[in-house]
Amino acid sequence: MISQASIQEVSERLDAVSVVSDYVRLEKRGSRYVGLCPFHQEKTPSFSVNQEHKLYYCFGCGKGGSIINFVMEMEKTTFPETIELLAKRFGVQLRYEKAQIEKEKDTRLEALNELYRRVAGSFHSILTEKSLGNAALHYLTERGIRRDIIDRFQLGFAPANRFWLYDFLLKKGYSPEFLAVSGLFSKQHPRLSLFSGRIIFPITDRQGQPVAFGGRILGDGEPKYINSGDSERYKKGLLLFGIDKAQPALRATKEAVLVEGYMDLIALHQSGVSNAVAPLGTAFTDEQAKLLRRWVERVYLYFDSDTAGQKATIKAIFTCRKNALASAIINTDKNFKDPAEILQKMGEKYLHEATKSYIFGFNYLMSYAQSLYSFNTAEGKYQSVAFLFPYVDILDSDIARETALDMIAKEFVLDPKAVRFDYRRFNSSSAAGLDTPRRKEDKTCDDKSLLIAVAINQGWYEQFRVLVSIQEVEDPVAKEIFVALEECFKYGETGLDAVLARISSQEVREQVLKRGSSKEFSINTEVFIIDGINKFKQRQLKRRKNEIMRELATTYKKKSSDYRSIDDLIMEKMHIDAELRSLSSQKDT
Ligand code: UTP
Ligand code: MN
Repeated sequence: MISQASIQEVSERLDAVSVVSDYVRLEKRGSRYVGLCPFHQEKTPSFSVNQEHKLYYCFGCGKGGSIINFVMEMEKTTFPETIELLAKRFGVQLRYEKAQIEKEKDTRLEALNELYRRVAGSFHSILTEKSLGNAALHYLTERGIRRDIIDRFQLGFAPANRFWLYDFLLKKGYSPEFLAVSGLFSKQHPRLSLFSGRIIFPITDRQGQPVAFGGRILGDGEPKYINSGDSERYKKGLLLFGIDKAQPALRATKEAVLVEGYMDLIALHQSGVSNAVAPLGTAFTDEQAKLLRRWVERVYLYFDSDTAGQKATIKAIFTCRKNALASAIINTDKNFKDPAEILQKMGEKYLHEATKSYIFGFNYLMSYAQSLYSFNTAEGKYQSVAFLFPYVDILDSDIARETALDMIAKEFVLDPKAVRFDYRRFNSSSAAGLDTPRRKEDKTCDDKSLLIAVAINQGWYEQFRVLVSIQEVEDPVAKEIFVALEECFKYGETGLDAVLARISSQEVREQVLKRGSSKEFSINTEVFIIDGINKFKQRQLKRRKNEIMRELATTYKKKSSDYRSIDDLIMEKMHIDAELRSLSSQKDT
């Protein structure tokens, strides 16, 4: 098999016009080259070659594809033969790779799984059965962790001797080569264990398979925690600590409690809060939110009581919202650092009760707004209040709006008249531009054009897929192209042919080629794509905003309304407004 990198190199190096010129006489017309189509009879040229994107298309018979595909058609050669032909012509040294590669990966991963299970088991038995683990077991007991919980989470202890693990595994028959890629040892010194003299927290995937470890130092010292690096089996921001144990409770309650640390999570599970999960040494990520969203509708944030915890809370509120999760904030008690400390000092019952007291999003936001700006200056006050105006904006009865403005005035000790005046001014300046009928220029970059542009500039896809998700795309043609691109990306295939091969509809294939050959894409692709993504995001946000407005309107009419969900909707709208503002300002720069 020719390697993908080589295929890519060939398609990058080949000169489209000179290749096609071997078969068709081409003439330059503007930015394109045209000639008589070799695939059908014609007198006036409708066959065109796009030099930059290396594709051909006949506006007469609809035939088209990449230049590689063109040569295949003309020479009646297979794909690899064609690549070899072109490689020779353009001086590319081809590399070949084994098709076995996927199978080998599976075996390697299973072997790693087995290794991690064994290591977790060994650390656990050292902690619970060996004298080497006495001090660590004592430490955990002092922190109020029960023995059955130690077993359930398979907590362990890694001996202080940094060579212990290597020697142990070598004796069990593992090869040095395998241990070198296991992620358990130092890269520079392959015999040195990353984890030594630490309490071990196995990090398990959704099936309960250990895929990484966290290790805490006994007592004080730096670094407090060491975590496995990312590996084939484990990507930090994708997994949540405790997810396998929490899953049944997440499903049952449709709610999750999100805490910061390993110990907090264990403390909560021990206290009967079994729907607790924790991000792993990172901020709560979109991927983690999406994972939760499979089972859960609401997330209770229960972070450390310090400033860092507060910041993380605000960030997590938005991450939740972006991923269609409602959020509430469990009141932190400033007398305690975090949930783990509450367990230690006050016990399980107390911690369990503590999770029942939480506040609604808007209340948290109000106090946050106050803390954001200096309260002593008029400007500071105005800023905090303006931060909340989008909330007022969304209320759909005058009475509700008046009440909210009064609440803000009271909270911020301001003259209600002044608040109203500022609100009106804010409203008239921000109302412009939103929800106005779509302008003409938006049409030039609809979802379909955007995806076509990315398809013929595949180098952009890696960035694109991070910014736009398939579910957000509504146009069916755009969606099909997106799916094809994603499949190519997953399988490491490059080139327009690979994308086209994965599109089943002939019509869609033709559209890609036809639009891709036209002038609109050859002007300034980069600007086109960036601008396209920007507009795409704006369309999404506006759509969601209109939905929110409608939801709010109906929730409001029901007098018995659930204020929690109103707060969440409003919070989301504020977030959307902020994003829309930042997107439209990006356009100007
Ligand atoms: P904390 O410093 O709040 O730790 O970091 P903690 O969980 O309260 O630890 P204890 O209670 O003192 O034992 C919160 C989380 O951030 C990550 C860990 O996942 C930790 O649980 N962290 C923290 C690290 O990865 N490395 C560090 O050095 C510190
Ligand atoms: Mn903590």
